[in-house]
Amino acid sequence: MIAVKDALDLYREYVAKHAEVDADAGEGRMRLWREVAAHADARRVLYPGSYVEATPALVWPEVVFNDQDARARRFFASPDVRAWLEQEAPGHVVRYHHGDYATAIDEPEGSFDLLLSQYAGPVGQACKRYLRRGGLLLANNSHGDAGLAHVDPDYELVAVVRRRWSDDVEGFFEPKRPPHPDREELLRLGRGVGYTKTAPQYVFRRR
Ligand SMILES: C[S@@+](CC[C@H](N)C(=O)[O-])C[C@H]1O[C@@H](n2cnc3c(N)ncnc32)[C@H](O)[C@@H]1O
Repeated sequence: MIAVKDALDLYREYVAKHAEVDADAGEGRMRLWREVAAHADARRVLYPGSYVEATPALVWPEVVFNDQDARARRFFASPDVRAWLEQEAPGHVVRYHHGDYATAIDEPEGSFDLLLSQYAGPVGQACKRYLRRGGLLLANNSHGDAGLAHVDPDYELVAVVRRRWSDDVEGFFEPKRPPHPDREELLRLGRGVGYTKTAPQYVFRRR
């Protein structure tokens, strides 16, 4: 079993590596989670493709994580990590499902209030069925997942998050080179397209 130090080192090592590409990694992500928690009425949160990013469990009372990377399975199976999470957020429920998020998440459909999509591919499409109607998808546009939600009639853009949450969603998803690609094109591309106006994070409500 990996000890807390090792498990947390795995987490810190990951944050350090990703802080180069994402100023909001690690502690910065805590700021994001807290800002979203302050505006979104959410209890049950699903985080597919989480890797070892356990910090949402420090903010929301019930979080289900998933990844297909064996290190993530070891991380969430580590009693020391569980002890750390319990120490930091007593009583919060943490579950982990290992495998492809398209098939491996054994949770009731329509039972989550918030779906997190962060640098892990088309999560908003593959895991939409787990989100209750009226529930929220928080997505950045890595792998084009926010663009996919934009062209999806089941999703409605309701806010964006920079440092602060904003309900002003005017002018987003205007492609620099119109027309906007459709779902098949975005999935084929596997990445987002350039927009005239962008935000680090987009919030969609499931209709
Ligand atoms: C770049 S990392 C991002 C991790 C974390 N979401 C973050 O933002 O810090 C992408 C993660 O998504 C996982 N992933 C990608 N496709 C997946 C799939 N279909 N099912 C489960 N995990 C997946 C990878 O294993 C990897 O750990």
